[in-house]
Amino acid sequence: MVEEVKTSPTAARKHSLSGRSTPRRLDEVEGNIEDRLPLSLGEFARVLGGGVVPGSVVLIGGDPGIGKSTLLLQVALEMARQAVVLYVSGEESERQIKMRALRLLRQDDEAQPGEEQPAGDIPEHLYLVTETNLEMILEHVAAVNPSLLIIDSIQTTYLPELESSAGSVSQVRDCASRLREMAKSGGAAVFLIGHVTKEGAIAGPRVLEHIVDTVLYLEGDRFQSYRLLRSVKNRFGATSEVGVFEMRERGMIEVTNPSEAFLAERMINAPGSAIAVTMEGTRPLLVEVQGLTSPTSFGNPRRTANGVDFNRLLLITAVLSRRVGLHLGEQDIFVNVVGGLTVDEPAADLSIAAAIASSFRNLPVRADTILIGEVGLSGELRMVRQMPARLHEAASLGFKTAIVPRRMQHGEAWTQGIQVIEVRSLRQALDHCLVKDDAAGM
Ligand SMILES: Nc1ncnc2c1ncn2[C@@H]1O[C@H](COP(=O)(O)OP(=O)(O)OP(=O)(O)O)[C@@H](O)[C@H]1O
Ligand SMILES: [Mg+2]
Repeated sequence: MVEEVKTSPTAARKHSLSGRSTPRRLDEVEGNIEDRLPLSLGEFARVLGGGVVPGSVVLIGGDPGIGKSTLLLQVALEMARQAVVLYVSGEESERQIKMRALRLLRQDDEAQPGEEQPAGDIPEHLYLVTETNLEMILEHVAAVNPSLLIIDSIQTTYLPELESSAGSVSQVRDCASRLREMAKSGGAAVFLIGHVTKEGAIAGPRVLEHIVDTVLYLEGDRFQSYRLLRSVKNRFGATSEVGVFEMRERGMIEVTNPSEAFLAERMINAPGSAIAVTMEGTRPLLVEVQGLTSPTSFGNPRRTANGVDFNRLLLITAVLSRRVGLHLGEQDIFVNVVGGLTVDEPAADLSIAAAIASSFRNLPVRADTILIGEVGLSGELRMVRQMPARLHEAASLGFKTAIVPRRMQHGEAWTQGIQVIEVRSLRQALDHCLVKDDAAGM
């Protein structure tokens, strides 16, 4: 239950979106498809749908310390080379932000932390203010007239006319609405940083996600350096698009070939490792799924899922026991997705099953093979979407064989450059991918 204080009618005055509300012919409205501001941070631009749309409001959520401020300061530094940017912080002092900016701008990793930076490195169109009162922020916006406004964070801004404290439901909602009005009438793009709750949703009312045009989540394991920027709502681009970054001292560095990065530390021919191809939005991603079985010493066998859905693991374990005949009833089973990634797609089922079976039988999965397919309760393999994109990515990374579900309709030929083995059941798939002698492999 959240208390919402009723406000006086003057405070709740109506604002119209564009300042003028006369019907106009659509063909007379200004605007082009290509009106986006380009961004050379390609991964970020891709998640947005190709660049920053003027007048759009983008909400970026993420766990504490994941790198939200870092990413947006990087965007600010870059955008300020072509347009005026106003960075409003309610969380850090100007000095702290300057220190971070200098760190992000440092060109070579070898430079000593104490070394002086030439001041010319900081673009002159980047303005900074530490302010939490939204009335004041809007005044600053009117004075500076930025093309891009960054608010860090929406939970720290408040409207003095409302009686509730900053971060409360009504404050967050009304502040976001006011910022949206400003964006839609003035044309400035607005990036809002949002805190997330313990459950992982953006703190504040659910309506916040309706008010804004785009909702992005920055996720990742805090102990690992990879960060995924995922779009969950986008009025100007595809959703569930992902950008991959690596958190370094110089900030968020784009990972342009994430599959290669995630497979870099793989041990070839070790039992209990299988390669899955998942789709993150429109992008195929190769990930290593690891499985480990070990005899249960006492009590009930344990099942531990890291990066895959727990219930999915139980289902696959049951299918392996009943349909393939592996005696997993007295085995502890651990499954882990390498790189701190989370794979929630059924297409990874086959690789999870193969990783477990591979560890249980102590036979490695063929090193040059990728596995794609959803496992059904009868032990059958089911087709998944976007096969050509997945196979193409695997082929381009040098994989030679793909084990996939048998097609019911024979349409076009499979992707060139990779041998495709179609199988009907999980049992057949395991027969093909587990190496029985030491001869095979990459
Ligand atoms: N000198 C440094 N070298 C490498 N990484 C650093 C350095 N300083 C900070 N970081 C990384 O930056 C992260 C903090 O980033 P940032 O402040 O952007 O997070 P945030 O999401 O804005 O957090 P908050 O929600 O607390 O505002 C730290 O977790 C740390 O990993
Ligand atoms: Mg921050």
